[in-house]
Amino acid sequence: MCGIVGAVAERNITAILLEGLKRLEYRGYDSAGVAVFTNNGTLERMRRNGKVAELEQALAGEPLAGRLGIAHTRWATHGAPCERNAHPHFSGSDLAVVHNGIIENHEALREQLKGLGYVFTSDTDTEVIAHLLNHKLKDNSDLTAALKATVKELHGAYGLAVISAKQPDRLVAARSGSPLVIGLGLGENFLASDQLALRQVTDRFMYLEEGDIAEIHRDSVQIWDVNGQSVQREAVQYSDGAEAADKGEYRHYMLKEIHEQPAVVQRTLENRLGQDHVLVQAFGPQAKELFAKVRNVQIVACGTSYHAGMVARYWLESLAGIPCQVEVASEFRYRKVVVQPDTLFVSISQSGETADTLAALRNAKELGFLGSLAICNVGISSLVRESDLTLLTQAGREIGVASTKAFTTQLVGLLLLTLSLGQVRGTLEAGVEAQLVEELRRLPARLGEALAMDSIVEKVAELFADKHHTLFLGRGAQFPVAMEGALKLKEISYIHAEAYPAGELKHGPLALVDNDMPVVTVAPNNELLEKLKSNLQEVRARGGELIVFADEQAGMTNGEGTHVINMPHIHDVLAPILYTIPLQLLSYYVAVLKGTDVDQPRNLAKSVTVE
Ligand code: G6P
Repeated sequence: MCGIVGAVAERNITAILLEGLKRLEYRGYDSAGVAVFTNNGTLERMRRNGKVAELEQALAGEPLAGRLGIAHTRWATHGAPCERNAHPHFSGSDLAVVHNGIIENHEALREQLKGLGYVFTSDTDTEVIAHLLNHKLKDNSDLTAALKATVKELHGAYGLAVISAKQPDRLVAARSGSPLVIGLGLGENFLASDQLALRQVTDRFMYLEEGDIAEIHRDSVQIWDVNGQSVQREAVQYSDGAEAADKGEYRHYMLKEIHEQPAVVQRTLENRLGQDHVLVQAFGPQAKELFAKVRNVQIVACGTSYHAGMVARYWLESLAGIPCQVEVASEFRYRKVVVQPDTLFVSISQSGETADTLAALRNAKELGFLGSLAICNVGISSLVRESDLTLLTQAGREIGVASTKAFTTQLVGLLLLTLSLGQVRGTLEAGVEAQLVEELRRLPARLGEALAMDSIVEKVAELFADKHHTLFLGRGAQFPVAMEGALKLKEISYIHAEAYPAGELKHGPLALVDNDMPVVTVAPNNELLEKLKSNLQEVRARGGELIVFADEQAGMTNGEGTHVINMPHIHDVLAPILYTIPLQLLSYYVAVLKGTDVDQPRNLAKSVTVE
């Protein structure tokens, strides 16, 4: 997704802007650019299609030095990824704009502005903002006032940063639907779409709220809220060791993050488990009262987070006896939904900024849900701020675009939710809760055992290097685990992968099975094992090659065309968390063999803040 960095200082800010862009690279982008009010008194820009390194190289050849600037990484929505469409966008030679989000009425505005004589040089919605702002400056030469007038005409989502050669003492910003944070320095101030971009220059931040407009000078910051009232936003000191954007001994962030799972699962459990029960107040002071009324659960999420929700459905119904529906946010937000009485709305999101999930939450508020709970990894995110209750996963910053540790910590959070609801509603026996609490305590060690299989899985990955299609099978709560395994493989190795509930194999996908189609299966030792074994026979009978991650007590053995990888035995309820690990490792090693960009796979973004 797009990233914004801005700076106003006494020193040259170009290197700061570039470093900020590099720190946002993990979010996924296709072009980058910078605009600087130079020491010669002119506004200059440099843009490049491709990586920030290319922009950096171009700037090494033709340096831009100045004390005021904005920079951007673009993930194409309107107009192809190319230099002409890269931000910053200019209107005339004095005004530069960078923008995250989507302006929905850009076509109408474009026609209107063309009528006024403005000439467009890109296909983006952003250029409309630059020209509209230029036009507003004709009535009011103050940049902030003109921006306030401009945003009134914009429909859609934006995080905006603007500089003008005519008022070079300031950086002006606006937030609506796309996050922005001000970094506070000593005699210098900064702006970014994510504080990570600014951790090199400051650890004090001020988060803009929806509808805020900010005027940022070297030594002062002024903010107006959505009603135009001057407001103060709290300055927050940030310290988070886990945030270190550093690969350490690992070749890729993804591998590092996979191996962090025992530690982050441990952290997610901290302060949330009593002797033999879950501490319900971990969900917030009003949780107990709210949970007591819950008769249904509606889960909404996207991507990997959606798969976590699908696992939770099995848990909520089988353990807590609570009916649960799960839906992808992009569908839920536009569907006419019938809400059952006393339904808790649960959103799951690593970033807490995913546009569809956020919109679903906002719609849900109108639909008569009992209340809302966010299971999220970012405490300062919009999703958390706008939900009644929150359970923060403690995964630390996840850099790899393909989500790994965020998923397993979400599963832990969802199991805590299930046990809490069962406990408060009296639908879960105390003995069962106590046993699962004990199993949760042991989980980090179990995950460590699964990670120790790293080199075995690396070897298995060789079976996939020349394949184009794969099937993933699972039954029960392992079906969403199979879905997540398939998603990981397609995301980072670009191999077509589909997941099926194993019982559904004979209703279609079996037609695809031949010796060119590996079939990956997760097989814990549960009551569905025998049925799963029959499904696997159906595959073998058609010449399909089987890769089975099986409980060491499942009695499955290697044979011709059947590769069994034994997994440590685990309580069936926690099996989805454990079996996720080898599937993550498998996709990682297949991607490494294929030589893809593991941490930043093509066409994908870490945090999808547009529709
Ligand atoms: C993007 C990411 C996925 C993620 C999904 C939902 O597609 O590439 O890894 O699962 O967004 O993101 P969220 O932050 O809401 O969990």
